Amino acid sequence: MQESGAQSAAWFDRARKVIPGGVNSPARSFRAVGGDPPVVMARGDGAYFTDVDGRRYIDYLAGFGPLVLGHAHPRVVAAVRQAAGDGAMWGTPAPAEIELAERLVHTIEGMDQVRFTTTGTEAVMSAIRLARAYTGRSVVVKFEGAYHGHSDGMLVKAGSGASTVGTQDSLGVPAGVVRDVVSLPYNDPDLLKRTMQEIGDQVACVLAEPIVGNMGIVPPESGYLEAMQEAAHQAGALVIFDEVITAFRFRYGAIGPNLGVVPDLYALGKIIGGGLPAGAYGGRYDVMQYVSPLGGMFQAGTFAGNPLSSHAGLATLDVLAEEQPYARMEQLATELETGIAALAQDYGQAITINRAGSALTVFFGSQTVRDYTTAQAADANKFARFHRLMLAEGIYLAPSRFEALFVSAAHTAADIAETLAACKKSFMQMA
Ligand SMILES: Cc1ncc(COP(=O)(O)O)c(C=O)c1O
Repeated sequence: MQESGAQSAAWFDRARKVIPGGVNSPARSFRAVGGDPPVVMARGDGAYFTDVDGRRYIDYLAGFGPLVLGHAHPRVVAAVRQAAGDGAMWGTPAPAEIELAERLVHTIEGMDQVRFTTTGTEAVMSAIRLARAYTGRSVVVKFEGAYHGHSDGMLVKAGSGASTVGTQDSLGVPAGVVRDVVSLPYNDPDLLKRTMQEIGDQVACVLAEPIVGNMGIVPPESGYLEAMQEAAHQAGALVIFDEVITAFRFRYGAIGPNLGVVPDLYALGKIIGGGLPAGAYGGRYDVMQYVSPLGGMFQAGTFAGNPLSSHAGLATLDVLAEEQPYARMEQLATELETGIAALAQDYGQAITINRAGSALTVFFGSQTVRDYTTAQAADANKFARFHRLMLAEGIYLAPSRFEALFVSAAHTAADIAETLAACKKSFMQMA
């Protein structure tokens, strides 16, 4: 098996001396998949990465979600070049952020107004603060294994990188913060209902991803989101959908309304910045009136709505609106899903694949994955081996069994075929 190349190893040696663990986000580490060094990348182009040793990979990481058009889409690059030439940021209102806000408000059902942030973490954090301001209550109900960024309260039983590296309950989160967060198993409407009956009068919001992306892909079971909304609203709490991954990933817009529920507030990020840092929160007009300088809920950001991110986001949304690549992306993801499932059968690998549109997760194990407990039951060692083998074949998967494979608009049928050939070799070696 080919391990990381000499240049990657040399760069990573330098990295770990000056950056804790050598990475600027724990999810980038290879600790959960057989150890460091990770691959150090040099450039991205469409569906491909090239590392510092000159090796090419088919990329299914998609930057953890934002790169729905693949790397360096010419229209996004042109928009960013133009914006950079005009001055990267001004700290004043600017046309691009206003146009992007209009685009979101006109596209997303229930988004009457929107406020930009710089990250998804801030988007969720601010939406929660707003829900607390609006309701005058403090408790947040969320779901085990979901990842909503790294603000203090969201690191109670968190998923994604936090669960991958074993810090879903992070050190440094004050007990007072933990007391105001209730984490429940996903896809359990009865428990949610009972909880809301017991403590609903203290609950500011129920916060969920309408399709979970951070314990691997876990879709909501039939009627679950409706039950969530009913339980929240009966208690006078708001529903916040964290659509940082899902918005513009599965369709041109948010996914909540398509699944039958328009939330009171949304948190957005990733794709809306076209690969540059961006986040946003927004929703009901009456609730958004609480945001400063109109209302008393303070939230701010030096780089929020900056021209570079706004132009990159607008260019990305333009391409998505014009090309509507969603059916084609889903078709390719379906080919990947059925191909991997057939190979697993042929080579005696017990796996479960959860897929939503163009995103899927391969769990090693035969149990249905519907919540964090069942996601955790998947075999971590087998995934780690699969990850290393696929990497050696030039297929870049997220280095965690709790992440998704994202098919982008840049992937082709030939990429899927190459991926399945690599999968065949990997399963043969694992058999
Ligand atoms: C669903 C969800 N919410 C929030 C975040 C946090 O976004 P950011 O990393 O931009 O702070 C993430 C990041 O992966 C996410 O997947």
